[in-house]
Amino acid sequence: MTSGRSGVRAMVARWRGRDIELKTPAELEAMRAAGALVARTLAAVIELAKPGVSTGDLDALAEQTIREAGAVPSFLGYHGYPASICSSVNEQIVHGIPSLAQVLAEGDLVSVDCGAILEGWHGDAAVTIPIGAVSAADLALSAACEEALHAGIGAVQPGGRLTDISHAVQLACEAAGRRDGVEYGIVAEYGGHGIGTSMHMDPFLPNFGEAGQGPRLRAGMALAVEPMITAGDPETRELEDGWTVVTADGARAVHWEHSVAITDDGPRILTLPAD
Ligand code: MF3
Ligand code: CO
Repeated sequence: MTSGRSGVRAMVARWRGRDIELKTPAELEAMRAAGALVARTLAAVIELAKPGVSTGDLDALAEQTIREAGAVPSFLGYHGYPASICSSVNEQIVHGIPSLAQVLAEGDLVSVDCGAILEGWHGDAAVTIPIGAVSAADLALSAACEEALHAGIGAVQPGGRLTDISHAVQLACEAAGRRDGVEYGIVAEYGGHGIGTSMHMDPFLPNFGEAGQGPRLRAGMALAVEPMITAGDPETRELEDGWTVVTADGARAVHWEHSVAITDDGPRILTLPAD
């Protein structure tokens, strides 16, 4: 989901709780089924992602897994997007387009983002996959982002406010950076979003900022939480293909995402494998 760098505060201020889609418990069960399919698809992609395999191969497997389940890949055709996953390799942050010509090599770090529509309900999740042996710095970068994701999910609480999530993501990223002796960048132009009957719904969810702002979180809302973290400066650049977003300084970047429902008991991750 795109915000535009200067627009983040204005967007958060504009959205009010009543504009955010509320799901019934039965609808959240349907979203859970869509989410479980996304999780299963990503697990299959992780299994296949090895040196010598192309990102186009990963895309083909994802599309097949989604369609065999009677679902539809939500990315395919979205604003003209040409594939079923985004595969963002190394300095690519998000929206990398998979290709049979892009063969993964030992030491690559690939973020795979996947969405599916099952019975009208959307699931959206992303993982960062190390290809073979990657550097300790890359593993730490990916762990920092995954930790920031889970810290954000922990703040998906009924009665809280939207930017409680943003703040928790930021704090976790900063804490990981102190531990790792690195100043990680948090990408500003892209962030999380509401999800349900569409992939991208209100509200936009920034990955940093003060807590206590934006709409109040209520049971029945669902949000995709998706930090994007860079090893260097968070400034981004879009490639000529009109999709691929890379770090301006060429440093590596990672992306982790879950779709999460707000329940009376707290956050419920929708994009985990079925148990
Ligand atoms: N999954 C991305 C997000 O989380 C969106 C991908 S849009 C596509 O916001 F068109 F690139 F597929
Ligand atoms: Co998303």
